[in-house]
Amino acid sequence: MSKLCIQGDTRLVGDVKISGAKNAAVAILPATILVEGITIIENLPNINDVAILNEAIVSMGAVTKFLDLHTLEIDATTIYKYSATEPCISKMRASYYLLGALLGRFKKAEVAMPGGCDFGGRPIDQHIKGFRALGANIEIEDNIIKINADRLIGTRIYLDMVSVGATINIMLAAVLAEGTTTIENAAKEPHIVDVANFLNKMGAKIIGAGTDVIRIKGVSKLHGGHYNIVPDQIEAGTFMLIAAATKGDICVRNIIPEHMDSLTSKLREIGVTLIEGDDYIRVIWKQKLTATQIITLPYPGFPTDLQPQMLVSLLQAQGVSTIVESIFDNRFQYVDELRKMGANITIDGTKASIEGVDTLYGANLVATDLRAGAAMIIAGLVAKGTTTIDNVRYIDRGYEDIEKKLTALGAQIFRID
Ligand code: EPZ
Repeated sequence: MSKLCIQGDTRLVGDVKISGAKNAAVAILPATILVEGITIIENLPNINDVAILNEAIVSMGAVTKFLDLHTLEIDATTIYKYSATEPCISKMRASYYLLGALLGRFKKAEVAMPGGCDFGGRPIDQHIKGFRALGANIEIEDNIIKINADRLIGTRIYLDMVSVGATINIMLAAVLAEGTTTIENAAKEPHIVDVANFLNKMGAKIIGAGTDVIRIKGVSKLHGGHYNIVPDQIEAGTFMLIAAATKGDICVRNIIPEHMDSLTSKLREIGVTLIEGDDYIRVIWKQKLTATQIITLPYPGFPTDLQPQMLVSLLQAQGVSTIVESIFDNRFQYVDELRKMGANITIDGTKASIEGVDTLYGANLVATDLRAGAAMIIAGLVAKGTTTIDNVRYIDRGYEDIEKKLTALGAQIFRID
C-alpha cells in the first residue's frame, strides 16, 4: 500500500510525453487472442491493467515476451484454455473484452464478471445482446459469464445506448463470424478506431470505425503482425488541465491534437492560451480562469474521463461553473474529498455546481477511482500546504510514471510506501 505526498502551490512548466492509450491497450491485448500467429504490440503503456491482461492471456496458454518496457510479443497460437476466472480479472472492467475475443476464436468463453471503477450501475446487457444476436448462448453463474455458440453468424445490432465496451466487444466477436455484422449507434472513441485498425492490420475487414455505423465482414483467419498503439487522449487531457489549474505552461507531446478538440475549445473558453502543432499542444495559463458550463458526452463530446480533472481546474475560476455528467449515474463520489480542501461544490443528482474560491488547502485525501485520483493530484498541486492521497493503486491502473512526469515539470511529489 502506498500513498502520494504533494507539496502544493506549484506552477508546472515544461514538456511531457504522453504514453500509449490505456483504453486501446486493454482492448488490443485481448484482441490478440483472435490472431493465430505472432503479434508485436508497440507503445503499450506500462500500467497495471496491461500487466493483468498479459498474465490472463499467458494463463490461457499464450507465450508472451516484453521486448522492451512498451513492446510486447504475443504468440497466441498456443492458447488452449478459454476461461479467465481469477480474482484479478473481476477487478478490472476491460476483462470483458476476453469474452468477445474468446467467443470469436473458440466459440466459447468463461470469464469472471467485470469489475472496474464504481460509478453506480455498469451493466453489460448490450454486450450480451450483441453476442446473442450473433448466435451465442449465455449464462451467468456464480459471477462467471459462460458463453458458447455452434456458429457465429453476422447480423445487424442496434445498441440501445452508445457504449464503448459493447461496440468493441461485438467487433471482437464478429471478425471471424460468418457473413457481415453491422453495429448501429456505435461509439466513436479514438480507442475504438485503434482496435479496428489493429484488427484490419491482422487481416480483418472492418469499415466505419469512428462513425456510428460499423460493418464487419467476417474472415476465416487473422494473421500476425506489428501494431503501434495510439497516444492516450485522457492522459493528454489530464496534463493539459494540470497546466491550466497550476497557472503553468506545459507542452503536451506525442498526441493527436484532433482527439483533444472538445477540451481545447473549453480551455480557450475559460481563458487559457493554446498553441497546437502536428503532434503537440502547448497550454499556457495567462489569466484567472472564468466559469463555464460542461456536459459530458460520448466522443467527440466532452469525455467523462476528464470530468473530475476539469472540475478541479474550475475550483478557482471566476464565478459559478456547472458540469452535467450524462454518461454515468454516480460519478461525483470524489467531491467530498475536495470539500476537505475548501472547495465549494453543490451536487444535485448528476449536476455539479462549482463556485470558484481563492484558495485551496492541503488535506489527506482518499482516491475513489482512477480519474478522481488524477483530479486529486491536480488539487494537491494547486493547494497551499501538503496533500496526501491514499489508494494510489487506482491511479497506477491508468497512468504511467505519473510522479516522474510531474517531477520533470517542477512538481514536488513523492510516493510513501
Ligand atoms: C469505457 O467504459 C471506459 N473504460 C471508461 O473509462 C469510460 O468512462 C467509458 O467507456 C465511457 O467513455 C474502458 O475503456 C476500459 P460504456 P465502459 O459501455 O465500456 C451504459 C477510465 O477511467 N451501458 O461506454 O464500461 C453504462 O452503464 C474508464 O479509463 C449499459 O447500460 O462504458 C454507461 O452509463 C472509466 N449497458 C454508458 O452505457 C451496457 O451493456 C456508457 O458505458 C454497456 C453500457
